[in-house]
Amino acid sequence: MNNTPSPNAHVPHVVSDRAELRQVLQAARQSGQSIGLVPTMGALHEGHLSLVRRSVAECDITVVTIFVNPTQFGPQEDFSRYPRTMDHDLQLLREARADLVFAPVAEAIYPEGFSTYVEPPNVAHPLDGQSRPGHFRGVVTVVLKLFHLVDADVAYFGQKDFQQSRVIEEMVRDLDLPLRIEVCPIIREADGLAMSSRNRYLSPQERERSLSLYRALQRASTLAGQGERCGRTLCDEMHATLLAGGITNIDYATLVDSRTLQPADQVTDDTFALIAAYVGTTRLIDNCRIDRKPLTP
Ligand code: PAJ
Repeated sequence: MNNTPSPNAHVPHVVSDRAELRQVLQAARQSGQSIGLVPTMGALHEGHLSLVRRSVAECDITVVTIFVNPTQFGPQEDFSRYPRTMDHDLQLLREARADLVFAPVAEAIYPEGFSTYVEPPNVAHPLDGQSRPGHFRGVVTVVLKLFHLVDADVAYFGQKDFQQSRVIEEMVRDLDLPLRIEVCPIIREADGLAMSSRNRYLSPQERERSLSLYRALQRASTLAGQGERCGRTLCDEMHATLLAGGITNIDYATLVDSRTLQPADQVTDDTFALIAAYVGTTRLIDNCRIDRKPLTP
């Protein structure tokens, strides 16, 4: 294995303390440099790195946060087994040329006595809002805190978590937060599986089956491309594709209006197909815009 850093790699400054974060960013802000923020829970992969690279290309300073946020996990969810791979993450961030990594301990974000939460917007209610009660409350609360702590000009999120990105866009608009949100495309494995930190839970057989999520989206997008406009038909086709691929525990496979996240009876220019399903015990999500272009990895 070649551990030599590439010639243009540079070492990001790693801070775990809020005061130090402020201090380091103050100089950048005073000299008028723009700040890009990429919030993550670590276990980084190319999906995360695509956001980092976008920020590096567009902003003077790129801050990546790594924090496995306890308040967005339900009691039966995978908080304790969520992968933590800090050394590898830092190596990847060095190669992607991030400037600053903020990796706080839980007590720095949720000190003793913490009790104030953000009430998420309406787009947080359906879909994952139903299946994961409290999830978006935890997400918007931590994201708002990170926005305040970093005071970024732009924050980068992935379309992979489509509902999350809509929830954050609504929060930014509703609460007049002074930053721009950029939603970046889904990065996929060569065979189409959307990259996710949770993919590492999959056994080889489950990895094989997980491809059905992508196949179901492709099926819906292909049929829509051929002129099918009926939401019900496309949903049925997605369910059939998932079942044929051995995925029986389907949380949802549905078409929604991307502005409201309410079910779409007919395909329009704002229609997205969204899937959440369990492969073994691992819950995977994926989505795509339904339009005339075929879906490719
Ligand atoms: P995490 O799952 O680590 O994802 C961090 C960011 O990377 C999110 O914006 C997510 O949409 C994006 N991302 C993940 N996989 C991607 C892929 N295959 N292609 C493109 N982008 C991808 O999402 C969270 O963390 C947390 O909820 C967080 C926002 C950090 C709040 O705790």
